[in-house]
Amino acid sequence: MAKKRVLITGGAGFLGSHLCDRFLKEGCHVIAMDNLITGSLDNIQHLFHREDFEFYNHDVSKFVHVPGDLDYIMHFASPASPIDYLKMPIQTLKVGSLGTHNLLGLAKAKGARMLIASTSEVYGDPLVHPQTEDYWGNVNPVGPRGVYDEAKRFQEAMTMGYHTFHGVETRIVRIFNTYGPRMRLDDGRVLPAFIGQALRGEDLTAFGDGSQTRSFCYVDDLVEGIYRLLLSDCADPVNIGNPDEITINQFAEEILKLTGSKSKIIYKPLPTDDPKQRQPNITKAKELLGWSPQFSRSEGLKPTLEYFKDKVK
Ligand SMILES: NC(=O)c1ccc[n+]([C@@H]2O[C@H](COP(=O)([O-])OP(=O)(O)OC[C@H]3O[C@@H](n4cnc5c(N)ncnc54)[C@H](O)[C@@H]3O)[C@@H](O)[C@H]2O)c1
Repeated sequence: MAKKRVLITGGAGFLGSHLCDRFLKEGCHVIAMDNLITGSLDNIQHLFHREDFEFYNHDVSKFVHVPGDLDYIMHFASPASPIDYLKMPIQTLKVGSLGTHNLLGLAKAKGARMLIASTSEVYGDPLVHPQTEDYWGNVNPVGPRGVYDEAKRFQEAMTMGYHTFHGVETRIVRIFNTYGPRMRLDDGRVLPAFIGQALRGEDLTAFGDGSQTRSFCYVDDLVEGIYRLLLSDCADPVNIGNPDEITINQFAEEILKLTGSKSKIIYKPLPTDDPKQRQPNITKAKELLGWSPQFSRSEGLKPTLEYFKDKVK
């Protein structure tokens, strides 16, 4: 039987590169596409010798051409961390809108199934806790995070439009904070920031009073959930994340203990529109996909810490 052919946009990024690994393991032919604005070839250099792997350096906000058949399109290209999308607001809006439109057109032309990487940011600063998929969100469209949040909300709407109007098979995953090897130390997210600071012996910077909460999902769990969603028949959005919620203060203490660091926690003003709490309700993923996270934070942090130790100079 011919191998399934998968296009993974953002394939040189953190999540995209793990998806490349997973689809190759499943026996697929993988085409990674990335313009490297936040990703790195280091994340996929272990794959370049393979005949079942190709890489295209291309901006998906421009017309996308891929020769041959495609079975699946995984759209993961987008600046993803607040410092990235604040630096690149227009690229972020374009890749969520024009990029998604280009790829949906490609999916339609090839008869491929397309899965888009949406985000818990579509819930904004949520007034419902934990967040279920039927909650519509509390987003400030003109606030600093609006460029990302609204691009992702538009991306979902466009994807649903292609599904209902053109009959394209689509899947929408709403990803909650995910971590693991190949994250960038300097992407501004709290987990690499704390680990980097602890390993360098610097104080850990918490924003606000540190009472806001986050929940962190290990990347292998996320990839498993995404893979199951792709193979399911659910076109509606599905949350994938780890509901184990922790305050930023507790998390900082955990990192200090794990790294054996003697650093202190210092506090800076909360950035505008920073969500106060985030926790996925994953009932739908459990019922529909038989999925729930398998890695505890202490299990997931071990390989992550090992990865970061090599990166800290
Ligand atoms: N990591 C998370 O916790 C998380 C949470 C929610 C959603 N997501 C979504 O998952 C996806 C991947 O996130 P990540 O954490 O791996 O970030 P990342 O920055 O590591 O990866 C994104 C990749 O997309 C590439 N890219 C950006 N714009 C592009 C364009 N126009 N054309 C081609 N390539 C482009 C970047 O170079 C990078 O390699 C994003 O869509 C993000 O919004 C991630």
